[in-house]
Amino acid sequence: MRVLVLHGPNLNLLGEREPSIYGTINLEQLDEMVRRHGEALGLEVRSFQSNHEGALIDELHANRKWMQALVINAGAYTHTSYAIRDAIAAVGMPAYEVHLSDLSAREPWRQVSVIEEVCVAKIMGKGVGSYLEALERIAGTRKP
Ligand code: DQA
Repeated sequence: MRVLVLHGPNLNLLGEREPSIYGTINLEQLDEMVRRHGEALGLEVRSFQSNHEGALIDELHANRKWMQALVINAGAYTHTSYAIRDAIAAVGMPAYEVHLSDLSAREPWRQVSVIEEVCVAKIMGKGVGSYLEALERIAGTRKP
């Protein structure tokens, strides 16, 4: 199965950005772990990060014929972007919302997700493990 992984704004600074919340590994290391885990599960993974809402949407559109599932950490766009919500609905793929941190234990505004209703599951608070669990669910090796 082919899986697109999208990372939203500020995730390019992983490793140096608030490490007590988001951890110490950088995005390149995270992407490598995700790619390898995907490979072990028989998944082909493509990753893309942008700080720009439109670039994330363009990447989703560009991969819509290639991908069979989506894993998305939309960063702060999770809480605000109806445009990303509509783009996920438009491509019609099973989408997994992931977050490194546990949003249920953070500020109230982070507990609002405008994309959750177009995603099949939300996995959060497990660091890189949130992404890995999403891949396992896509591969069918892990039940919710
Ligand atoms: C995040 C949580 C968001 O609230 C925040 O804006 C991020 C990262 C997470 O992975 O925990 O950029 O999506």
